[in-house]
Order: sequence, then C-alpha cells, then structure tokens
Amino acid sequence: MWWESRLEGKVALITGGASGLGRATASEFLQHGARVVIADIDSQLGRQVAKWLGPEAHFIECDVGVESQVAEAVDMTVARHGRLDIMYNNAGITGPVFPPGIADLDLDEFDRVMRINVRGMIAGIKHAARVMIPALSGSILCTASISGLMGGLGPHPYTISKFTIPGIVKSVATELCKHGVRINCISPCPIPTPMVVSQFSGFFPDATQDRIMEIVHELGELKGSMCEEVDVAKAALYLASNEAKYITGHNLVVDGGFTCFKNLQFPSS
Ligand SMILES: NC(=O)c1ccc[n+]([C@@H]2O[C@H](COP(=O)([O-])OP(=O)(O)OC[C@H]3O[C@@H](n4cnc5c(N)ncnc54)[C@H](O)[C@@H]3O)[C@@H](O)[C@H]2O)c1
Repeated sequence: MWWESRLEGKVALITGGASGLGRATASEFLQHGARVVIADIDSQLGRQVAKWLGPEAHFIECDVGVESQVAEAVDMTVARHGRLDIMYNNAGITGPVFPPGIADLDLDEFDRVMRINVRGMIAGIKHAARVMIPALSGSILCTASISGLMGGLGPHPYTISKFTIPGIVKSVATELCKHGVRINCISPCPIPTPMVVSQFSGFFPDATQDRIMEIVHELGELKGSMCEEVDVAKAALYLASNEAKYITGHNLVVDGGFTCFKNLQFPSS
C-alpha cells in the first residue's frame, strides 16, 4: 500500500538514533521502506538498536561535536548505500539538571551544550549538503524544541541552543533552495525519553520511572491525547517524504498547542 512505502528507496542518516526520538524515527523510516544508518556516541546501545531494527539498519559511532566524525558518518553512509536522501540532525543534550542562574553561568558548560546542539547540527547540515547539492535533492531535518519558542522551559544553554536552530534552518534554506535540497526542523514538547526521564529524576528524586512518565505526560495541554516519540517520528516521516516536497525553512511544532497560548491568571476573588 502506498502509505507503507513513503520512503521506498531512500537512505537516511539519523544522529542520536540509538535512543528516544531518533530511535523511534529510525523505526518509522524503516517501516516506510528506507534504509537507515544510525549515528550515535553510545556505541553499545547503537549496535544493539541497529540489530533490533533489522537488516536495513546500520550503526556508525559518531560524536556530532567532532566534525571529522560527522563527515565520516556521511561518507560511510554514501559508501554503503550509494546515496544520502535524508539527514536527520537529532542528537542533543540538556546540560546539567540544576544549572546555575545567568549570573553564575559556567561558560565552559555553555560551550559544551552549544558544541553538541548547535555546532553538531551545523556539521550535520554542512556534510549532508556536500553530498545532496550535487545530487540536486535531499531532505535535511533538525530537532529543535519548544524550549526554542519560549523562555523558561529549560536551562539557559539548552534554551539558547534550541532558539538557534530555526534560525539556522532559515539561513541555510535560502541557499539550499537553489539546489533542490529542503531543510526543516521539528520542535517537540516534553516526551519521556531517557533524556527527559533522567532530567526529571533530578527534580523528583523519589519518583518511580512510571510516575515520572506520568508527570511528563500531564504537562500536555491537548486533552485526550499525549505526546509520544512516534508523534515526532511521524512529523519527521512527513517532512522527509515527497509529500512535503514544497516545504522548506519550516519549524514543525509538535506540542498539542502548548506554545499557542497562555491563560490569564485572574485572582480567585
Ligand atoms: N524528549 C523530549 O522531550 C524532547 C523535546 C524537545 C526536543 N528534544 C530533542 O530531541 C533530541 C533527541 O533527544 P531524546 O529526547 O530522544 O533524548 P535521548 O537521550 O533519548 O536520545 C539522545 C541520543 O543522542 C545521543 N547523543 C548524545 N550526545 C551525542 C553526541 N555528541 N553525538 C552523537 N550522539 C549523541 C545519545 O547517546 C542518545 O542516544 C535532542 O536534540 C533533544 O534536545 C527532546
């Protein structure tokens, strides 16, 4: 059926693909006929996940903070599959759970977050563009966040890093348009992936993992539904597929309306 093969023949490289949103997207892409390479700093988990995903999935060890490793991941994908159609720059970190206020911010820590979340993303875009421009096609995706739409949802370095991503996407879209290459980002709301569960464990040290997952889901605004990894995976599937052939420079917010409104807090009497 056509909707089961929306990525037939396509090759995707996903950074941070060993866990959470990247892993869910790898699984979704595979179900739709793509061949997938997951690039992750966690080689043990990455190998396990690639095996679990099946014969059309492969793993490459890669720290997105090191440009040569990102370049190598792109080159190895092209060497194995002969092409790169989809580059999903998804790897990211939150930084410390209890960051200091701005007056005490450790700029080395700030640099560490920016190195992974911004520089790593730019490295992925750069090296994907290197092979997509000559092919005159391709879809580049980046994971931003609702922390990049409103202040106060995350630590300063994380928030600043995520605000940067829609700007990178718009800047690069202007150039890549001329070569038939699309670039978009996705901004999810909190989803209880290992990253978020570990972050929330710092806020609720006595809570079980199930309770933390519940707390994260209760943050949502859209009644009768909750945001799951697969919701981001399906957004990525859409943007990667030909159904989004005329969409570039866009930030697809997956937040059930969370960032659309703020209610007036009237006094109770
Ligand atoms: N889960 C959420 O609620 C949420 C919301 C908005 C945005 N995001 C973003 O989604 C992305 C994925 O996060 P997740 O929630 O799936 O977390 P996760 O921890 O489940 O997965 C992140 C993956 O990235 C890998 N990684 C970390 N540093 C890396 C590096 N330097 N090089 C390569 N791989 C590296 C980790 O090993 C891990 O496999 C991040 O960019 C995050 O900021 C997550």
